[in-house]
Amino acid sequence: MNELLEVDGLVVDYGRARALDGADLRVAAGRTVGVVGESGSGKSTLGAAIGRLLPRQARVEAGEVRVGGERMLDLRPAELRRLRRGRLGFVFQDPIASLDPTMRVGRQLRLVLGRRGDVAAHLARVGLDAARVASAYPHQLSGGMAQRVAIALAMAASPELLVADEPTASLDAQVREKVLDVVFALAAEAGTSIVWLSHDLPAVARRCDRVAVMYGGRVVESGPAAAVLGAPAHPYTAALAGSAPAAAAPGVRLRPVPGRPPVLTGPSPGCAFEPRCPFAEERCAVERPAPVRVGEQDALCHRAADLVGELEVVA
Ligand SMILES: Nc1ncnc2c1ncn2[C@@H]1O[C@H](COP(=O)(O)OP(=O)(O)OP(=O)(O)O)[C@@H](O)[C@H]1O
Ligand code: SF4
Ligand SMILES: [Mg+2]
Repeated sequence: MNELLEVDGLVVDYGRARALDGADLRVAAGRTVGVVGESGSGKSTLGAAIGRLLPRQARVEAGEVRVGGERMLDLRPAELRRLRRGRLGFVFQDPIASLDPTMRVGRQLRLVLGRRGDVAAHLARVGLDAARVASAYPHQLSGGMAQRVAIALAMAASPELLVADEPTASLDAQVREKVLDVVFALAAEAGTSIVWLSHDLPAVARRCDRVAVMYGGRVVESGPAAAVLGAPAHPYTAALAGSAPAAAAPGVRLRPVPGRPPVLTGPSPGCAFEPRCPFAEERCAVERPAPVRVGEQDALCHRAADLVGELEVVA
């Protein structure tokens, strides 16, 4: 499979706090991947690292990120800008913060599209009234409208890969679905791959081809959405899936998994899920699990091969 995005063994620290502890991710061209996990599992850090957009206090300690085969971490600033502009798009949770407050919306879009681009058409594509919105400043827009503008900006250059970090978290339920419809429709039309970082497992199950489950700064299970959620190979996926996908009704929140997620200050000595795992064995606390291919998915669990098919996904 020709991979558009390859993340290998990525380790990122914020001072003494370890946010990514060897994260791996593969995304093929045109695929949609939902990255799910509890708060603090490292989703935003992974998303930012893909575009080398990490905050200043973050340090990449190990690992590699390749976009279309280009090693992101080695690129010089000019090459990095070219690659970001040509191949990548980003949409973040807070749309207002990602827009330039001093510039009218139409002008911001014009800068991305160039002189010949059709600003009105790009606003219409995301369901906005171009006549009204083009002349507005970001602070004059509602959250839903601002997020549509951010999506129009991100998609204007038909990126090969869109990284969307909780793009609808600040929106109400009805607007949320509409905004997601727009993102996925535009991406399908342009052949754009999506990495969608989200808490909302049922929504990811409905929209994405593939799912990557994060825990303790690693992707602990990944594969086709139906396989990962229907027959998880990792106990954390089973716990997180709780009510999905059978009861994956819109708006159903995940049941919290008992116990607390880890706070890492260095490499986890074993499996980070060990303190909460009902299937843990002695080696789980001291041996880091390596990826195991089970059926169609990859899982970071010593017992994945015996557990797949046994893990109950109960409501
Ligand atoms: N700017 C920062 N400075 C210090 N620590 C940070 C910073 N950003 C994230 N962290 C820490 O890194 C870890 C991973 O955080 P991250 O934001 O990537 O997780 P997340 O999965 O996106 O969480 P959420 O679901 O809450 O958005 C957490 O322990 C978090 O406290
Ligand atoms: S490696 Fe061990 S502790 Fe970790 S999920 Fe698998 S069985 Fe549970
Ligand atoms: Mg986040």
